[in-house]
Amino acid sequence: MNLDETAARLGAPVADVERVHRLAGDRPSAPLPARADAPAILDRLAVRPDDAAEIMAGWPDPDSPLWTPELRWLLDRTIALVRADLGGYGWLAPGPELPRDRGPAWRHLYVYAYLALVDVVRAYHRAHGVADAVSWATLADLGRNLAIDRRMRGEGWPVMQAWLTLHVRGSLYELGRLQHHRSDSAIELHIPDAGPLTPEAVSASLDAARAFFPRHFPDERYAAFACGSWLLDPQLREYLPADSNIIRFQRRFELEPYQEPDGPDADVEVLRFVFRTLSTPLDALPRRTVLQRAAVDHLTAGRHWQWRRGRFPI
Ligand SMILES: CC(C)(COP(=O)(O)OP(=O)(O)OC[C@H]1O[C@@H](n2cnc3c(N)ncnc32)[C@H](O)[C@@H]1OP(=O)(O)O)[C@@H](O)C(=O)NCCC(=O)NCCS
Repeated sequence: MNLDETAARLGAPVADVERVHRLAGDRPSAPLPARADAPAILDRLAVRPDDAAEIMAGWPDPDSPLWTPELRWLLDRTIALVRADLGGYGWLAPGPELPRDRGPAWRHLYVYAYLALVDVVRAYHRAHGVADAVSWATLADLGRNLAIDRRMRGEGWPVMQAWLTLHVRGSLYELGRLQHHRSDSAIELHIPDAGPLTPEAVSASLDAARAFFPRHFPDERYAAFACGSWLLDPQLREYLPADSNIIRFQRRFELEPYQEPDGPDADVEVLRFVFRTLSTPLDALPRRTVLQRAAVDHLTAGRHWQWRRGRFPI
């Protein structure tokens, strides 16, 4: 197989295609669910009807003309690449970014990979005694992300395609309000877009994690909860009331000193999570909530948001 040609046909950098080839090697892939079972599975994964219709329209049937040999190669090898790291918890790019406007096969290739890995990770969950309800609640982040990606007109997808490999490698668990991510020494917290972040819901989710990890991952020892987020930027205190959920969430954490970002650019992340757009000019963004007004006014004043990391003991 000629990787240069494959990359050109995929519209992707050669280095990204070489990386897939190297990491996946000849490791085992996994089959997609049967087409007839897919609608019910998509429903369990909270995929909305408009996204489900697109996914079904691009389904990689063996005789589908939408699936070129390059796309079939990438689908098969990205499944193998992610599967090879089952149980791993680092961020993992499943493959190159694709030109997603070329139709449903291109648009949803990494969704088909996710669907192929559902059975694989469900077996991993069962081996760790994870309840079905937790398994499905965790995996249903797919539907949430597809809906957000639709709102974002595709701008959100490059991050999401890597994010969603955490779920299918068994590294992330949605326990009530928060997602809990296994990592080296701390449980990393992620906050899905799922309604208000009330202190009660946060406390309940932390309690659930305190019970969950010793029970299902007894060989792993966690001394702290940790988080990296725009939500931990102390500058938000200049704008949000002290009793707002975000400020109350912040108070749980001891912040690490601020370092010039080696993580995500917080200005971009604020636009992503507050406005669900990365490209709208500041003066065209909505100003409906106190946070929206703060986000715009801060940037318009030439200031910057900070991506901050913090932790607190378990
Ligand atoms: C985290 C989150 C649930 C907090 O929402 P919340 O519980 O309503 O937060 P607060 O009580 O602190 O809100 C204070 C104010 O900011 C507004 N606000 C909070 N989050 C907002 C958001 N994402 N977009 C727009 N406005 C928001 C609230 O409406 C409120 O304003 P108002 O009094 O004018 O109505 C919410 O921001 C969210 O869903 N974010 C997306 C996910 C995310 O950012 N995850 C972290 C990724 S690193």
